[in-house]
Amino acid sequence: MQASQTSPQQLVIRAPDDWHVHLRDGRMLSAVVNDTARQFRRAIVMPNLTPPVTTVAAAEAYRSRILAAVEPGLAFEPLMVCYLTDDADPEEIARGYEAGVFTACKLYPAHATTNSAHGVTEIRNIYLALERMQRIGMPLLLHGEVTDHSVDVFDREAVFIERIFSKIVVDFPALKTVFEHITTADAVAFVESGGPNLAATITPHHLRINRNAMFAGGVRPHFYCLPVAKRERHRLELRRAATSGSAKFFLGTDSAPHLTGAKESACGCAGIFNAPFAIESYAATFDEEGALDRLEGFASEHGPRFYGLPLNEDRIALDRRDIVVPPRIGTDLGDLVPFHADETLPWSLSAA
Ligand code: NCD
Ligand code: ZN
Repeated sequence: MQASQTSPQQLVIRAPDDWHVHLRDGRMLSAVVNDTARQFRRAIVMPNLTPPVTTVAAAEAYRSRILAAVEPGLAFEPLMVCYLTDDADPEEIARGYEAGVFTACKLYPAHATTNSAHGVTEIRNIYLALERMQRIGMPLLLHGEVTDHSVDVFDREAVFIERIFSKIVVDFPALKTVFEHITTADAVAFVESGGPNLAATITPHHLRINRNAMFAGGVRPHFYCLPVAKRERHRLELRRAATSGSAKFFLGTDSAPHLTGAKESACGCAGIFNAPFAIESYAATFDEEGALDRLEGFASEHGPRFYGLPLNEDRIALDRRDIVVPPRIGTDLGDLVPFHADETLPWSLSAA
C-alpha cells in the first residue's frame, strides 16, 4: 500500500471513514450529518434512536432519511447497524446482512448509555443471534460497559472485559467483534491479545482528555461521555495503540450531539459532539505523537479491511494551517458545543 505523501505543509491521505457515529434523526440529523459527510466517505451509523433500529425495514427507512439530508455533491454511504434486544431475531438479522442493509449488529447492555433502555439484559439472550452472525461473518459491535451499580463507573469497561467480553470470545471464537470507543489500558491489552477478528475503535476525545477534563475548575458537562474518560495512564495507552500502526485499531468518532440545554443540566446527557473537526483532531494527536505517517492506516485502511470492504479510492488533503474551533454551532433546534470549542487546531481539512 502506498504511504501517505507527507510534506511539512500538507498531508494527503486516502479518504477516511468513521466506524462509529451517532447521526440522530429528524432536524438534528439534518443539522449534523454533513459534518460527517464532508470528511468521511462512509460511516457506521449507530442505531440508538427512539425507537431503536431493530428491523431491516427500519434501517432502510433510516438510511433513506440520512441520504436525503446529505448535501448534494457529497459522496457519503451510511452503513446501517441493527440494535440488539433480548428478543433479537437471527432470521431478520441474517436477512438484513445478506440483503446489504445491515453491516453489523450493536450490543448495548440495557441502560448502559443514551437510548439503551431496549438493550440486552443478559448476554445469553442473544446467543442464537451471535451464533448466526459468526456463521455468516457479520460483525458484532460492543458498548463494553457493565451496568451493575455496585461497580464504579470508571471500572465498568474493565469489568465488562472480565465478566462478559472474555466469555464471548471463548464461546464465539470466529465472531468478528469491535470493542467500540475503548477508554482503558485494559481494553487495549485485551484487543491486542486477541486474534485478527477482534478490533477496537478509538475516539478523538479519548486520545486528548483524561477524566480531569470533566472537573477542571468546576463541572464541565461537554467533556462527559460514555464510556467516561479515564486516568492519564489510560489516555497515554490509547495514544500508543492508535498510533502503533496495528490494524486492530481504527477511527470511530462516537460523535454524539446533544443540545446545549440537555448537556448543561442537573442531569446532563452523555455524549461529545466532535464531528465538525474530527479528522483535524486526530491529525493533531498523530502529529504530537510523531506519527502522521500512520494516520492513513488508522483513519482509512484498518477499518475497511476489518469489515471486508473496499478501501476508498480518492484522497483528502490536510493543510498545516491553524483553524479556530467556534465555541458553539447553531442549529435550528438550538446550539451544540463542539469538541475543541475555542481551541486552535494545527491542521485543517483542505477545501478540495
Ligand atoms: C452516545 C449517545 O449520546 O448516543 N453517548 C455517548 O456518551 N457516547 C451513546 C454511546 O455511544 O454510548
Ligand atoms: Zn456511541
